Amino acid sequence: MLAQMISEELARILSLKEDEVERLLEIPPQETLGDLAFPCFTLAKTKRKAPPFIAAELEAAFLEHKEVTAKATGGYVNFFFHRETVAGQLFQEMKSNQYWQPNSGDGKRVVIDMSSPNIAKPFGIGHLRSTIIGHALYHLLKKTGYDPIRVNHLGDWGTQFWKQIAAYQRWGGDVDLKQNPIASFLELYVRFHEEAEKDESLEDEGREWFKKLEEGDEEADRLWTYFVKESLNEFDRMYNRLGVEFDYVLGESFYNDQMAPVVKELQEKGLLTCSEGALVVPLEDADLPPCLIVKSDGTSIYATRDLATAIYRHHVQKGEKLLYVVGGEQTLHFKQVFHVLKKMGYKWADPCEHITFGLLRLDGKKMSTRRGRVVMLEDVLNDVVAHAKAKIKEKHPNHPHLHEVAEAVGVGAVIFGDLKQDRRLDVNFRLEDALSFEGETGPYVQYTYARIQSILRKGDKLNDSRHMDWQHVTKDEGWSLLKVLIQYPNVLIKATEAREPHQLARYVLTVSKKFNQFYHKYVILADDETVRQARLILAERTGEVSADAMAVLGVKTPEEL
Ligand code: ARG
Repeated sequence: MLAQMISEELARILSLKEDEVERLLEIPPQETLGDLAFPCFTLAKTKRKAPPFIAAELEAAFLEHKEVTAKATGGYVNFFFHRETVAGQLFQEMKSNQYWQPNSGDGKRVVIDMSSPNIAKPFGIGHLRSTIIGHALYHLLKKTGYDPIRVNHLGDWGTQFWKQIAAYQRWGGDVDLKQNPIASFLELYVRFHEEAEKDESLEDEGREWFKKLEEGDEEADRLWTYFVKESLNEFDRMYNRLGVEFDYVLGESFYNDQMAPVVKELQEKGLLTCSEGALVVPLEDADLPPCLIVKSDGTSIYATRDLATAIYRHHVQKGEKLLYVVGGEQTLHFKQVFHVLKKMGYKWADPCEHITFGLLRLDGKKMSTRRGRVVMLEDVLNDVVAHAKAKIKEKHPNHPHLHEVAEAVGVGAVIFGDLKQDRRLDVNFRLEDALSFEGETGPYVQYTYARIQSILRKGDKLNDSRHMDWQHVTKDEGWSLLKVLIQYPNVLIKATEAREPHQLARYVLTVSKKFNQFYHKYVILADDETVRQARLILAERTGEVSADAMAVLGVKTPEEL
């Protein structure tokens, strides 16, 4: 917003476009150097003048400006805004639609593949990241004017199923399916793997079940449906706690009848080659290993299914952009799939994106389902929430909504702990750190927000903000906070375009930090009415931005902590 106040003038003087000027403007590393800086180095060539010379000219051109003072320093012009003059305008801007809903998406439809856990396996903490990151991206896209849809691509087809059915047939009676369906499915799965190492016929039994499923065998179908239903029940419990919804839940099996047409199309386009009895699409041109399309036993595989899925998402769901929020270990798979789509002549394959992320470790431990070492997400959440409850109780022994707030803080700590750093990095989740009310955590932001709400409850703030004496909020810490607040729409757009929710998470941490600095230096609930009112407005805006940003990240902000 500050940039817009000078970009028109700068553009006119320099005969540049306004957006070019805005791209060049920088925020100086230290606030004492000014509010904005304009580097003149790139202009030196076209203007055939030395950068300090251009800077001096600009300083002179802004001499009469009412809102800003320009100061040439070397090859830079540093701009100092007349705080009290512009503050009212800035607060006004913060009420506009463009501030809360900056449009950069123009209604473009984006299909987000997110969460996508596997049926009859526990919702492990591994799928949690996809859910959390996908959800944040969904809200970011929505907020910035895109038309995103969320698709849960359930893993409801594939070898693990048939193995599970086979195991169920053999040992189903040994486990407690009624009370604990998923844990039992897992037990059966693990047992299958253990016993298959001793007895090879088990694998054949699994394949036998696959055949039956494909042929529509009644018993096979009944078991499959049962597994799907029980798993979805459990997943839904997790989604509820995380506050996540989907526009479509379409499992891999949904594409069963679209596999043969894809293979046919690949054939017709001359892309398939026979290799050791299997059909593949060679991808040497892209320096990739061949993409396996049909296995030697005639069954189709993961990649083929993703080809059918992508075509469906583009043609039926009208996705102009397809995003896949899936762990980094599937990078090769998506490279291959996107490349095959390109070879099929689909221009829309270009903007397909694999949104990768690193591993999530719990106190240093990696998760694996195969060996039964999986950590059940529900146990993790329960644990975090129990700790949150104990901490809140310490601070606030008679909290009226203890349970609800502990859930918000506990779940929020997990979500924020994931989103606060670049998604490509591994996350090591340490319960104690993530739940701390100080430092870079969700609970810290929640705590700051609750502090603001408590101040507002006591402050009897007036409605009108037009005739304010802004000098009470535009000195050092106040000005510094206000400048961060007006960055909000820019941060939303940048985080969306880079697919980096952490930019928003870091931003909201900065907002909290700056607010607390202001709060510790100035009395907000001052006796003087004009002082109090101006400060209350700053506090109120801070609370609004914090809650809004946290909601985009998927974290709740209780009014009282
Ligand atoms: N179910 C898969 C897994 O757990 C993830 C699916 C990701 N989405 C996709 N379209 N391949 O590994």
